Amino acid sequence: MPPHGDEVYRPKPGQRGKDVMWLGTPETMVAAMLKAARVGPADLVVDLGAGDGRIAIAAARDFGARAVGIEYEPPMADLARRNAVRAGVADRVRIVTGDIFREDFSQASVVTMYLLPELNLQLRPQLLDMKPGTRIVSYAWTMAEWEPDELIRAHPTDPYPQDAYAWIVPAKAAGRWSIAEVGGSFRATLELEQRFQKIGGTIAVDDARARQPILGAYLVGTDLGFTFVDRDGGVKALRLALDGDRAGGTSRLGEYVVRVTAQRGR
Ligand SMILES: C[S@@+](CC[C@H](N)C(=O)[O-])C[C@H]1O[C@@H](n2cnc3c(N)ncnc32)[C@H](O)[C@@H]1O
Repeated sequence: MPPHGDEVYRPKPGQRGKDVMWLGTPETMVAAMLKAARVGPADLVVDLGAGDGRIAIAAARDFGARAVGIEYEPPMADLARRNAVRAGVADRVRIVTGDIFREDFSQASVVTMYLLPELNLQLRPQLLDMKPGTRIVSYAWTMAEWEPDELIRAHPTDPYPQDAYAWIVPAKAAGRWSIAEVGGSFRATLELEQRFQKIGGTIAVDDARARQPILGAYLVGTDLGFTFVDRDGGVKALRLALDGDRAGGTSRLGEYVVRVTAQRGR
């Protein structure tokens, strides 16, 4: 017998939901969003406000991920479960009937959402506290001053073309770091300032009093990179993988690459 229930429940676009009404993300955008987030079999995708389950289902069916959809409205959550069965991915898609502001989704490696600007802002601190490297994708709405790392353009022929936005949760990098080359002579202190994924700061090499600005700094998840002018005038590139208050990576001067370690000071 086919899964039943559809005969008694057909959601209408625009119908009320707890904090936001139901409208489905266009299927072309669902695929583009999951692609932008580089979803793969190792991922746990959580869709906040899952509606009919289309994002969670596509993540499992087309990208091989495990997925959870959190949906407040019980009949809608039931429909999403039936859709997961129909799509043959019920073993990898879990639909939770619950409130996105109460359910724990901290284990997600990818979070998707189609909510409202103010809900995105309400969730923003929680999203920024997720594991660095977690990908966030929001259809239609931004995160205000937390600028997206990627813009996913709507197709111009969509009936209501709306873009989507993708972010990578940045590690918390601000503070004073001591850096040392392993087996080398180079030591430096780095002062980093951070606003979301934007990084700036200064570095002082050896005991030099003079601090110089770091150049071309970027922070992608835990991956921090920048350049600066070394003692002899060469441009040195530092690349560090941040891990809490510790970091390891390399310094490169032309072809000359040396391992470095770093520690954030107290
Ligand atoms: C705009 S729809 C998006 C549906 C789906 N994510 C998609 O992109 O196709 C938002 C969904 O969030 C649900 N919703 C509203 N407030 C919620 C809350 N606090 N917790 C969980 N779901 C909620 C609504 O019932 C609706 O199904």
